[in-house]
Amino acid sequence: MLNFANKTIDENRQGEAYAGELATNAKPGKLFYIESYGCQMNFSDSEIIASILHTEGFVPTKNVEDADLIFLNTCSIREKAEQTVRKRLTEFKKIKKQRPSMLIGVLGCMAERLKSKLLEEEKLVDIVVGPDAYRSLPQLIDEADSGTKAVNVLLSREETYADISPVRLNSNGINAFVSIMRGCNNMCSFCVVPFTRGRERSRDDASIVAECKDLFEQGYKEVTLLGQNVDSYYWVDPKTNHPVDFAMLLEKVAQISPSLRIRFSTSHPKDITDKVLHTMKAHANICKYIHLPVQSGSTRILQLMNRTYTREWYLAKVKRIKEIMPECTISADIMTGFCTETEQDHENTLDIMRQSKYEYSYMFAYSERPGTLAAKRYTDDVPDEVKKRRLDEIVKLQNSLSLETNKLDIGKVFEVLIEGNSKKSDLQWMGRNSQNKVMVFDKIENNQLQPGSFVHVMAESCTQGTLMGKIVNLS
Ligand code: SAH
Ligand code: SF4
Ligand code: F3S
Repeated sequence: MLNFANKTIDENRQGEAYAGELATNAKPGKLFYIESYGCQMNFSDSEIIASILHTEGFVPTKNVEDADLIFLNTCSIREKAEQTVRKRLTEFKKIKKQRPSMLIGVLGCMAERLKSKLLEEEKLVDIVVGPDAYRSLPQLIDEADSGTKAVNVLLSREETYADISPVRLNSNGINAFVSIMRGCNNMCSFCVVPFTRGRERSRDDASIVAECKDLFEQGYKEVTLLGQNVDSYYWVDPKTNHPVDFAMLLEKVAQISPSLRIRFSTSHPKDITDKVLHTMKAHANICKYIHLPVQSGSTRILQLMNRTYTREWYLAKVKRIKEIMPECTISADIMTGFCTETEQDHENTLDIMRQSKYEYSYMFAYSERPGTLAAKRYTDDVPDEVKKRRLDEIVKLQNSLSLETNKLDIGKVFEVLIEGNSKKSDLQWMGRNSQNKVMVFDKIENNQLQPGSFVHVMAESCTQGTLMGKIVNLS
């Protein structure tokens, strides 16, 4: 099953296949299989793709062996992400050799980055479609069926797929992800996303609120609003000319119901405003958790990365979050071994982690991406073994910070949304609190609790990844 919880980027989630309900208007014999890699936005796109294919009558399958169409929705963020996809393609090509009528499609960021080169490099790929061209998939499938190699990697300034109602893939019926914008204008020097996803554009607020409302009415209990930089969300209603910023959007979604939880990801430290923080504080159902990627604790490196903030500015933002919401937790993305990074820069990163007291971090070694500003301007000069050693130190420090922050929660009572049985035992529930911490606790007899229920739990002990507790009263 998908574990969307906590994950912004996870190459370790080696692709997840989609098995949905059979379409009622199915084209007999046309079965599609889709596997997704990369960030939550990519997983969310797969739900849009499934919807587009479903409307055309294609039928989803969980079995690669049965599929007439195999799609890989790919990620380019680090070299390793692309290698994983290429490995998977080799496996698919073996299946295609036995069943030549089967079509293989590469979608997403790698399709956008490599364009028709991918068809030359990966001979047996039939379809290549970039993130803004999914509406043309049915037509491209027809073209590929008739023997033409089909490519559409046009990026758009407008496409938000606002009118497409995503087919929820592998859903637990409790948490759902809703894209509020696409693309990115930030041009961090290490990052391929502005090239693979194009210009930033926000989605019509009414369609976002309608989608969240619909999810709530279907029984979903938590929505996560997604964008590469959610705090720069900005939509102007063409009829009224009224602008809607991220704080206003958050408020609108929070007002759907006090029992719908709201999360969001990702916040760029330069864009998160006091207005957003006060909106979070004002609504109990907006979770008190912010993913605030720092990347580096060194102002010099941050400048080379084009992150547009300094170390001091970042720390002031963390302080402000804690001033307004002392109970709010913060997580980060941290990158080690960026061009010219010295031991002192690395020490500064360790220091900013200690000062920010991250509840969790996603930690990466720098991987040069062709075409990015860093690849053009700087030399990837930190040796691999140094990157690895620094990454190990960062991971070790994060583990101890996670344990420390969890220990501080012992004795506190949290409202938890139950997501299912704990990994270890059917006699225990697992859920998350507002701060995004995983809590595990014994089930109790004679009650109506089930996945999707809210319950109050007191933390009694912890590991670095989990708070263990007991139910104190039903919500
Ligand atoms: N939009 C988000 C991040 C998207 S990419 C933001 O601005 O925070 C997710 C994370 O992958 C980044 O935060 C960064 O830590 C990491 N990343 C991006 N490009 C990378 C690269 N070339 N090498 C290693 N890690 C990278
Ligand atoms: Fe990449 Fe920076 Fe945009 Fe995030 S904000 S997607 S790191 S360019
Ligand atoms: Fe996401 Fe990877 Fe693309 S992180 S935006 S799928 S490059």
